[in-house]
Amino acid sequence: MNQKIIIAIDGYSSSGKSTLAKAISKKFKYKYIDSGSLYRTIALIAIRKKIFDSDLWNIRNFIPILKEMSLKFKWNQKSNQIDIFLNGENIQQKIRSEQVENKVSLIAQIPEIREKLTLMQRNIGKNKGIVIDGRDIGNYVFPKSELKIFMKGSIEIRSYRRYLDLKKRGEEVSYEEVRKNLIHRDIMDISRNISPLKKSVDSIEIDNTFLSIEEQLNLIFKFIKNKRKK
Ligand code: C5P
Repeated sequence: MNQKIIIAIDGYSSSGKSTLAKAISKKFKYKYIDSGSLYRTIALIAIRKKIFDSDLWNIRNFIPILKEMSLKFKWNQKSNQIDIFLNGENIQQKIRSEQVENKVSLIAQIPEIREKLTLMQRNIGKNKGIVIDGRDIGNYVFPKSELKIFMKGSIEIRSYRRYLDLKKRGEEVSYEEVRKNLIHRDIMDISRNISPLKKSVDSIEIDNTFLSIEEQLNLIFKFIKNKRKK
């Protein structure tokens, strides 16, 4: 019997979580939820509202600003992913910029924001049949998920992958800038007080520094097939 399960993929920035998650969602016809895109959306709003350049950079003033925003999610059948609309504008590409990456971990530290985004993710995933990637999914958002994967890779390989990705999108960045940003985000994600990035005891760890995507997928597909039979 093919039971619907929740597959949680956590790990370091640019460790290949979304590549793996997208391949799993395609193979098993599961919905893919990229939880980082929610935190990126809030960071984009904060940048646009010039929160970081002003005295408004405190939570008491930022939260009411968020309440004025209209955030809508639509399943994009083609990409099998949610597209995020901010006041009617599709911001899918804009949240991938280097500018957003430089601020998102600051936003991800705010308890009120984590609380709201956690509820949103639980709501989206309530019927199971999802693969969701992030930092706190296996430990906090869906602690009972049937399969938990934890991804890591050397800082050099992760920076290089991210650098190529940003270049492909036309961003003017150097490898060194990308490397610094990843180190900064790793530190912020590991050391924050609430729901920090941490491998859960019941997760399968994949270090993909020297693994091809095919090798990772072969390994994971076997685990998923076993879990769905139970
Ligand atoms: O996964 P992605 O790199 O898009 O995530 C962007 C940032 O959002 C991370 O660096 C992290 O600070 C934050 N994040 C988080 N919890 C999640 C997903 C992302 O704190 N579940």
